[in-house]
Order: sequence, then structure tokens, then C-alpha cells
Amino acid sequence: MEKTDAGGENAGAPGASGTAEPARRAGTGGMTRRALLVGVGAAGGAGAMFAAMGALGLAPGSQERSFAPPQRSDFTLTGRGAAKVVVLGAGVAGLTCAYELGKAGYDCTVLEAADRVGGRNLTLRGGDRLPEMDGQTQTAEFGEGVYFNAGPGRIAPWMVTMDYCRELGVPIETFVNNNASAYIYTQGMTAPVRARTARADMYGYIAELLAKATDAGALDRALTGDDRERLLEFLRRFGDIGQGFAYRGSDRRGFAVYPGAVAGTPLPGPSSLSEVLAAGTGRAITMDFGVEQAMPMFQPVGGMDAIVTALAREVGEDRIRTGTRVTEIRNLPDGVEIFHSDGVTRADYCVATLPPHLLARLRHNLGAPVTAALREPVVTAAGKMGLEYGRRWWEIDDRIYGGITETDLDITHIWYPSYGYHGERGLVVGYYNTGTEAEIYGGLSHAERRNRALTQGKKIHGEKYRTELRSSVSVAWHRQPHIEGGWARFPFYDDGFALLQSPAGRVYFAGDWLSHLVAWQAGAMESARKAVTGLHQRVAGGSS
Ligand code: ALA
Repeated sequence: MEKTDAGGENAGAPGASGTAEPARRAGTGGMTRRALLVGVGAAGGAGAMFAAMGALGLAPGSQERSFAPPQRSDFTLTGRGAAKVVVLGAGVAGLTCAYELGKAGYDCTVLEAADRVGGRNLTLRGGDRLPEMDGQTQTAEFGEGVYFNAGPGRIAPWMVTMDYCRELGVPIETFVNNNASAYIYTQGMTAPVRARTARADMYGYIAELLAKATDAGALDRALTGDDRERLLEFLRRFGDIGQGFAYRGSDRRGFAVYPGAVAGTPLPGPSSLSEVLAAGTGRAITMDFGVEQAMPMFQPVGGMDAIVTALAREVGEDRIRTGTRVTEIRNLPDGVEIFHSDGVTRADYCVATLPPHLLARLRHNLGAPVTAALREPVVTAAGKMGLEYGRRWWEIDDRIYGGITETDLDITHIWYPSYGYHGERGLVVGYYNTGTEAEIYGGLSHAERRNRALTQGKKIHGEKYRTELRSSVSVAWHRQPHIEGGWARFPFYDDGFALLQSPAGRVYFAGDWLSHLVAWQAGAMESARKAVTGLHQRVAGGSS
């Protein structure tokens, strides 16, 4: 994910799209799914075809969930037993591995360098300390009930993260990822505009242009007469355009005074098309168009770390050794040996879930191609700041309940909390930036980061943004010990990626960086499932 713009948080993030597969075979004796469905449709009609599509995981809205968690009974036919596995890293990938393997009775030990579990899944509350690699340590001073998701903050409903929340009994609530009342701010604006105003104007002018072109016959080569009428009908709705297809504003822009017993007072405007384009507000209205960011989105109640707390509980605290830094991985003919700050751990297999740039630095005997592949992913810096206020002025003064203000400032976004509505205090995310901007902020002391973020946020929210602040915490993920990055992404999904998706001897790898969902917990979980499946098939199937 680079600096976010029209692609929102996804810009540069691996698309969940792009996974189209040619003619996948579904255990149908060599028949493609398409051929099978054509046959079913011909014989049984649409209902039968839809049912068959559902069974194949192809119906709209259905997803293939091919993962079969290991179970103890998988060993009954072969007479083999679960193996001993050492998992490196107690982040989401490592905990998911240990949790899934534990279902079949694997004897897992999780080694974690930090003194806490979770990796980048980090929720900070009052009293929590946050050390950074340069020695600066912050202590959160948030009040009761206030928390800051310093890492992941949102979950799309199609992601496997939701399945784990259900399975682990982690309650979820809506995360407001798109709020028409939030603002869009472009440098040089005298005042920010509401997202609803920006959207109404962009859609309105697009509709006007397209309708006029259609009406004038400019698109006649692409449209039949019926197409033209249908398109014009749609554009009238899309842009709320009027007589002569002109966009002259719309209630959709919002009001200076909202309607009540008396009619509302419209906002001044709209500006001309040229001014709307120059304001650049269109860049923010497509933020949630991608599948990863579309509403509704979700968050665990009380903090994202509820997921890792639940996973760690299921794995068993006694199996997780925090404060244990791995120094060397040795693959042996009949097992693995892991050297670490507390000695040596021997096991039958290892799953290494550390970030690739940290794994690449470890001593190991897995071969030079493995080291080369581990060095391939490009690390992106990422930073976030939590700003705690004693008054929820964004709700009271601005009528903003959750959602995100998009800016072209170096803070990039301001997030408003999707919990604790109408409470006394609340926490706003004062910046969430990546790449160069995250590096710039990360290079400052916390007080300097805060002052810079407040100076920027004041441009949108005025003096209260500074004067009403109670406390703050900032995280620079590239400066977090044992993590050293926001996320890491293979520049190409080719040989290096494929190499590490397979085991190196008895050592498996997992992490969001080994998935097509980089920077999502779902990527870590899906990758963990892949490693677990391979390992379990090998152990239960008896190949070695
Ligand atoms: N998953 C990250 C986000 O939502 C990229 O911002």
C-alpha cells in the first residue's frame, strides 16, 4: 500500500482480485466446472444450476472454503501420531498455525521475541508501554474504555478473519469505513468539504457530461437507441441532473441548516466543474470501491487484539514463550533445531512466521535460494497516531460518527472512532500514513510527531484539535523491535514466492507476506492454513 488515494488503503496493496483461474477442475472426472454447469443447467434449469454453483463455491456471494482443519481422527488410518512443531513468531500467522495444529493434538511451542503476543495486531490502552528501536518508549495515558488499534483496524466480511472471530467467540461490531459526513481536504482549501458534497458534485458533473455526449449522439457507435435511453435514465439518477442534463446542485450535497419543521438551507454552490476538478476531491470518493474496503466492515468489540487474545488462549499460554529471540534455524534429516536466546528447541517441524526481512538475517542451513527469496519482499513503512480527546467534538460539533477524513496532507487520513458513541472521551487516529511520510514521522520524537499531526489536523478541525487533546500515542511500525516494517510485499508473485510457499526441508513459512492479502490479518491466516495443510498432510499421510 503506497500513499492512499483513489485506491484508499488498498492502493498498491495486493488486490483480492486478479485471482481468476482458467477452467478450474472440480473433481469432476476431468470435466471443467463450466462444462458441468452447462450440463446441469440444461437438464435441471436455473434452480438446479444455482444449487450446483453453490456446491462448487461459484454462486454469487459464495466463497470456496476448502480448508479442512487437522483433526485427531486424521491419524487413525495411518496409525501415525501428531508431531512436535516449533512455531517462530506469535503474530496472527504463528498463532493461527499453533491453533489449527493444536486441533489435531500437535505439540506446538511458539517462540516470540517480544514480551507480548500479537505482532502487528496491537491494541494500546491506558498504561501500555510502547518501546521503539531507538530507545524512545511511550506510555499510553488513555482513560478507561479508550483504546487505539495501532495495527489492523478493520475487517472485510468476506475475509477469513471473520470466520475466526465467529469460531473463537470474539464479538464484532460495525467499523464505519465510509462516512458521507466525514471531510475531504486538499491543501489550499479554505475549508474542508464533506464527502457527500464532493460525491454529489463529482457524480453530478460526470452524469452531465456523459448525458450531454450521449444526447448529442457522440456515443452512437457504442449505443443502440434503447441503450441511449436507458443510459440517460440511469444518469439522471446517478447525478441528480435536471433540465437539459445540467447539474445545478442537489440536496445530496447536504445543507448549511438541515431540514426540520422548516425547509433546510442549502449549502452554497456547487462550484463549477473546473473548480471541482481542481479541488481534487474526487480522489477520495472511490476509497471504498474495492472489495477490501467496501462497507460494511467490522472490528472486534473492545479492540482488535481480542483476536490474538482468543487465539493465544486456545493455543495455551504455557505453549507460548515470549521474550525468546530466535538466532538460528537448522533443518536436520529427522527434525529441526532452533537456537534462541533461551537455548535450543528441537522439534519435528518448524513454521517460521517472522517478517521475511528478519528471517533473511537469521543464520540457517536452508540454502542460498531461500535467503535470496526472503530478501525479495519490499518493506513498507507505516505509522499511526492515536489522539485522545475529553470531548467527542467530532460527534457533537461535526456530526461525524465513525468514518475517515481523507486529506492530501502528510497525515493522509483522520479516522473517527466506530465505538463509544456519545461517550465522554474518544480517540481519533490523527494520522495513518505509509512510505515516505511514515518515515518522516517515524524519524521524529513522539512530541514532534504529535505537534506535526496537530498542525495538520487543525487545518480541518480548527483550534480544538490542539486545545482539547488529552493524550496521544504514535506507532512507527518500521521502528518496532522484532517487526521493522508496516508490511512486506513480493514485487512479483513468481519463483521466490513459490519457493517459500513450499517447505525448505522441515521448515515451513507463513505470514501475510506469503499471501495475496498483504497487510491484512486474513492474509496471515490464509497463509497459516496453507502451511498447516501441507505439514499435516505430510505427517498424517506419512510421506516423511
Ligand atoms: N489492511 C490495511 C488497511 O486496512 C492495509 O489499511
